[in-house]
Amino acid sequence: MTTTTSTSGPTSAPMPNAGSFPRAFLQGRATVVVGLQWGDEGKGKIVHYLTPLHDAVVRYNGGANAGHSVVVGGERFALHLIPSGILHKGKRAIIGNGVVVDPAWLIGEIDKLSARGVDMSNLRISSRAHVVMPWHKDEDDLRERLLRVESAAVTGDGKGGEPIGTTKRGIGPCYADKHQRATAVRMGDLLDEAALRSKVRMIAKIKTATLGALFDALPSAERPEVRPVYDAEVVVRSCVEWAKRLGAMVGDTSVELLRMVEEGKSILLEGANATLLDVDHGTYPFVTSSSTVALGAPTGAGIPMQSVGRVLGIMKAYSTRVGGGPMATELIATEADRALAHHIRERGREYGTTTGRPRRVGWLDLPAVRYAVRLNGVTEVAVMLLDVLEGMQQIRVCTGYTVNGKPAEFEPDAGWMSRATPNFETLEGFSGEVSKARTLSELPKEARAYISLIERHVGAKVAIVSVGPDKDQTIRVGE
Ligand code: IMP
Repeated sequence: MTTTTSTSGPTSAPMPNAGSFPRAFLQGRATVVVGLQWGDEGKGKIVHYLTPLHDAVVRYNGGANAGHSVVVGGERFALHLIPSGILHKGKRAIIGNGVVVDPAWLIGEIDKLSARGVDMSNLRISSRAHVVMPWHKDEDDLRERLLRVESAAVTGDGKGGEPIGTTKRGIGPCYADKHQRATAVRMGDLLDEAALRSKVRMIAKIKTATLGALFDALPSAERPEVRPVYDAEVVVRSCVEWAKRLGAMVGDTSVELLRMVEEGKSILLEGANATLLDVDHGTYPFVTSSSTVALGAPTGAGIPMQSVGRVLGIMKAYSTRVGGGPMATELIATEADRALAHHIRERGREYGTTTGRPRRVGWLDLPAVRYAVRLNGVTEVAVMLLDVLEGMQQIRVCTGYTVNGKPAEFEPDAGWMSRATPNFETLEGFSGEVSKARTLSELPKEARAYISLIERHVGAKVAIVSVGPDKDQTIRVGE
């Protein structure tokens, strides 16, 4: 057996073979950007900011449920499926195998960005990414309707219980089919029309039957207008159209990324949704269906875990949440709370990038963020939207929880959260031109105290403070 070793620079690292240890696997050149709350923390801005330091930007989870907005030169771009790195010319932008792709949505996004002059030639899509098919969106809708009806029946108040509050982009049903296997379609399947046709015929039959049953289970007033019936030929025709537009971008992106890792290139892994929405580690069951956390990045991109060297956790200076599920620090109990939530929502543009839904707003939940920091192995934190809190007399922040009269550690579970009482500390607010600060020392001292409090409680260094949507409204701490 021959053993290959290399003593030269990272770009000449050996390709792995039977006898060589792939040295580059240990180089830790990849950075994960992950949300530490319930999403919409401002990951898009940070990814855009960090892209110049990397060779490729990869989306590793989620689908068109995500919405990353990025402001470039005063122009706002909303990205859903395409990695935010696409806005930098010449960088590889990859939709990884862990993503669920709605091809029609993706084509729309490509066309809109191209029309605004964004170069798409570097976009690649994993052949192993799963396709969100028409039945997935229908099922998402039918299930949410049924949940509303059935929870109302359980609560007996006729007002309606709590569905998950999904984005209705077909995310959950598509991931469910991925795990069911036989009824799934992957991006690579779109490239072989004959094989696809037999598969789609079989799936269309099953989906017409199963979704028809969900439709029938709904009271007629709650049903969608049209009963779901799938004509396999119509579906195949759409697939052929999608393949024409996207086929050239589809390939084994994991192989490409492995090569980049071995060549010592640096990769930015762009998380969508966020930690508290993770299917395993979030406030279940009010979560999304993918592995949103940094732990999901290597599997969703197809690279070894040792290649991840840095995990940048992104948090807002307050909390927001879209959809159902408990949110202990929500500003909702009194008229004054709701007015404050409205104020923050307007200042922070807290409306869903994907659905336009108003986001629920609350005070910062430090135990929840601390949990996310520990789980993701966060090496540095970016605090976003600090400017939104400017001008408030007082700021409240949750620093602990009480359950049954006793101090309790944060648990990522919806049931736990509805039993837990948040303990708040009240801090002095800050005013001044926070959005113009470019160094920490230019921030009002109360804002600096807020940042220090965050660092103390979450147990990680704050490396970036964002004070506005533009790239230059960014403070690099320590620079
Ligand atoms: P789904 O991902 O559409 O199944 O929705 C499940 C839950 O995750 C709902 O509460 C959504 O509002 C929430 N969600 C999914 N993606 C995002 C996101 O990118 N930001 C915020 N919430 C999200």
